Amino acid sequence: MKINLSSDTVNQLALLGAAAIIILTVYVAGKYIRQMKTDTSTGELTDENWDGISEYKNPVPTGWIASFLGTMIWGLWYWFLGYPLDAYSQIGEYNEEVKAYNAEFEKKWQNPNKETLLAMGEGVYLVQCAPCHGIAGDGIEGKAAGFDRWGSAKGIADTIKKGSKGLGYPMGEMPAGLVGEADAKAIGEWIAGGMKGQKPAAYSACSSCHGEDGKGMNGQAPDLSTYGTPAFVTNVLNRGKSGFIGTMPKFSDGRLTDIQKEAVANYILTFREK
Ligand code: HEC
Ligand code: HEC
Repeated sequence: MKINLSSDTVNQLALLGAAAIIILTVYVAGKYIRQMKTDTSTGELTDENWDGISEYKNPVPTGWIASFLGTMIWGLWYWFLGYPLDAYSQIGEYNEEVKAYNAEFEKKWQNPNKETLLAMGEGVYLVQCAPCHGIAGDGIEGKAAGFDRWGSAKGIADTIKKGSKGLGYPMGEMPAGLVGEADAKAIGEWIAGGMKGQKPAAYSACSSCHGEDGKGMNGQAPDLSTYGTPAFVTNVLNRGKSGFIGTMPKFSDGRLTDIQKEAVANYILTFREK
């Protein structure tokens, strides 16, 4: 970055300050050096004498004694009554305030209607998700999941084509290209349609991990019966994802409250192509 010294008032002030400090330093140092050369001593000497060198009797300044004792008293207070032994900290106080505020927030929005939920979801989305997923939910040219496809039959076909990793399931990584394009489309439509009707034969390529019923074999792999629902999204938010495209942080660390996760989950599903 190029710094323009002449146009910025803050820079000009800083330069002015620096010049003043240099001038003062030179002046004061010169004054004392001159004084050392010419001054003769005055004042009362102590009785001790080391090879002709003695000390002056200088009383300790009252201000110095006061601050010395003050610091000791403050140190004792700080150690025993303030932080750390009394376990008080500003961070702790901040955390408590946030907790109380979040509880109040959750209470206030306990049963939002759909409109309120989506409005809240939009607010959360623009702050927490849009920097990676894009304001329009398009994934910013492949930099993150595009919500126009994700959560739909097409999203499932994408996952089958590319594989999936980073949600941290015991099964680990889902390999890419388990079935061909036509089968992927059929499976995607079946899952996105709520797994009703005739199960595509090619689903046998999925059942070893996701289970015959698609429910993920008790948490070994994702529950596909919830794919494309707010519950699936909330689960992703709680887990975070270090995937192929990039890494998405966890939102389970108190960054979002439950109702905010629910709201943003509902909101991102509105991007989905019908
Ligand atoms: C080897 C085990 C395995 C097989 C076989 C498998 N999966 Fe997966 N699948 C996983 C695991 C593990 C995850 C979670 C991966 C992650 O961390 O992202 C996953 C994730 C998914 C997801 C969610 C990821 C997303 O895009 O949000 C979908 C959808 C999915 N699988 C569908 C399928 C379908 C359909 C098949 C069959 C064609 C299949 N899987 C076969 C293990 C498997
Ligand atoms: C730091 C960037 C970043 C932020 C912030 C972010 N994401 Fe993501 N997200 C990603 C990336 C990258 C992926 C794709 C990972 C992959 O598949 O390789 C992803 C994937 C997803 C997926 C698909 C998960 C799957 O299993 O395929 C969902 C759903 C999602 N994000 C929702 C959200 C929501 C909701 C928010 C806001 C609360 C959010 N993300 C914030 C980067 C981010």
